[in-house]
Amino acid sequence: MVIHIRQFQWSDYDAVAAVWIAADRDVLPRAELEAKLTRDPELFLVAELGGAVAAVIMGTYDGRRGWILRLAVHPAHRRKGIATRLVDELESRFRQLNCPRVNLLVMPDNTAGLQFWQALGYLPLPDVLCSKPLQVGRT
Ligand SMILES: CC(C)(COP(=O)(O)OP(=O)(O)OC[C@H]1O[C@@H](n2cnc3c(N)ncnc32)[C@H](O)[C@@H]1OP(=O)(O)O)[C@@H](O)C(=O)NCCC(=O)NCCS
Repeated sequence: MVIHIRQFQWSDYDAVAAVWIAADRDVLPRAELEAKLTRDPELFLVAELGGAVAAVIMGTYDGRRGWILRLAVHPAHRRKGIATRLVDELESRFRQLNCPRVNLLVMPDNTAGLQFWQALGYLPLPDVLCSKPLQVGRT
């Protein structure tokens, strides 16, 4: 089984959306993705298996910390090490940016997700996520 990790390209969008849907994840709308890709397109990666997109991961770098978002592997291709390969490649790209720490968020009821991240050395912290929507685009 040959897994090929590479940077996302727009022709992948429908396949990436299908992976997110199959994995029961929200689909990032095209407009939000366009904005993200103006900043650090080299941190948005897909994994191809047999020429088809089987998994996706999105990294962002704020100049101080790296963040990992939207990791999903199609249910037909789990426990083959694909997510591990994606995280390895993303970590390597963070290192090239001199990024010293990577954070991510996992829903507390996502037991499998938490086990996956802990297997890769990502340990839970006591911080609580706080969030506020901002109105934008008004004159
Ligand atoms: C979590 C997820 C990304 C793992 O992808 P994957 O390609 O199957 O993971 P890997 O094969 O690289 O697993 C590496 C290790 O993580 C752990 N792990 C992975 N899935 C696990 C599960 N369902 N239960 C327990 N441990 C798990 C194991 O230690 C595994 O090693 P092993 O297979 O040798 O036992 C995938 O199940 C998924 O897409 N889930 C839905 C979306 C999600 O939860 N995303 C992450 C949360 S932000």
